[in-house]
Amino acid sequence: MDRQNWAQEAAAKIKHKMYIVAGRNRHNIPYTTKDGKFDDWSGDRITWWTNGFWGGIMWQLYHATGKELYREIALENEEKLDANLMLAGGMDHDSGFRWLPTAVADYRITGSKDSFNRGMLAANDMAGRFNPMGRFIRAWNDNGDGSKAGWAIIDCMMNLPLLYWAYNETKDPRYLQIAVMHADTARKYFIREDGSSNHIVAFDPVTGEYADTFGGQGYAKGSSWTRGQAWALYGFTLSYLHTGNESYLNTAKSVANYFISNIPENGLIPVDFRQPADCTLEDSTASAIAACGLLEIAKALEQRDELSLTESRIYRNTAQKLLTSLYENRCCWDDNCDHILEKCTAAFHDKEHEFSIIYGDYFFIEAVWKLTGQELFIW
Ligand code: GLY
Repeated sequence: MDRQNWAQEAAAKIKHKMYIVAGRNRHNIPYTTKDGKFDDWSGDRITWWTNGFWGGIMWQLYHATGKELYREIALENEEKLDANLMLAGGMDHDSGFRWLPTAVADYRITGSKDSFNRGMLAANDMAGRFNPMGRFIRAWNDNGDGSKAGWAIIDCMMNLPLLYWAYNETKDPRYLQIAVMHADTARKYFIREDGSSNHIVAFDPVTGEYADTFGGQGYAKGSSWTRGQAWALYGFTLSYLHTGNESYLNTAKSVANYFISNIPENGLIPVDFRQPADCTLEDSTASAIAACGLLEIAKALEQRDELSLTESRIYRNTAQKLLTSLYENRCCWDDNCDHILEKCTAAFHDKEHEFSIIYGDYFFIEAVWKLTGQELFIW
């Protein structure tokens, strides 16, 4: 497949389809589709962690096309999230996923004071989840019994850019310090010798000492949940881009090298690289997220010497392989169907697998935008 043409072709298909899809879903915040129709997570499901990706898709499309419809829908998504900001029990570590693609994107484009305010409130809440003894941002919530007070998850690497943004805006070093301390803890306790990553690491929330690891959304303890590997790959790359700290780039490369060495021949990614050999379950989101991270590593290396340029080609070519495998086998271009990416999986042990998930579409679009020079940098 022609490397440049496929991405241009995909970009044109995305623009055509999404204008129709956005028009008939303008008041929804979708998570998945049922019979090809988006559901809606506004209202009493507003605290769900994925509720920023629809807005993110809208801002990427607005950036690329200038069409007002997208800006209006993105703003509606952003305003609906205010109900989440006012619900302490509905706030969690995933503030970056919700407010970077909505309020912060809006602020970056329009300079809106309301959007800045929302981004800062979310960043402050996230900073408040920092455990100073263990030097980590705690994941999720519990029933107030503290049972998860010592839990951290690899996904949180993708939320750190909200703190880097708050630091850049305010020059208050606490945001940067918390982000960097969390990234250093993640590097030490999540990333294994072979470049694979744990999903959950538990610390003693009082002393901060390491306690245990859990398989989380992957197959089992010690396994290799592919979306977690992708969050680590892209997340450490972003920490490198925001801080210039080479050790984060080296960690991102080590995770990337592990990911690359486990990609199946057909380029389609399983839910867990260590799931049983007879299990064929896939997760297309892991593929799209990893591709975004690989393209950013490649871009960073391309700006260096000849040797790095050679190295960068491995990452860029792998991203192309992942994305063309999705494009040829896992994309729905029917205008009557709301989603794009198929065979996405939230967690290995869930009852349902291989459906559409909004962040799969988001990261696929982001990757295609990166390849066609249309990206609004969200993270
Ligand atoms: N952040 C949760 C997930 O990736 O499913």
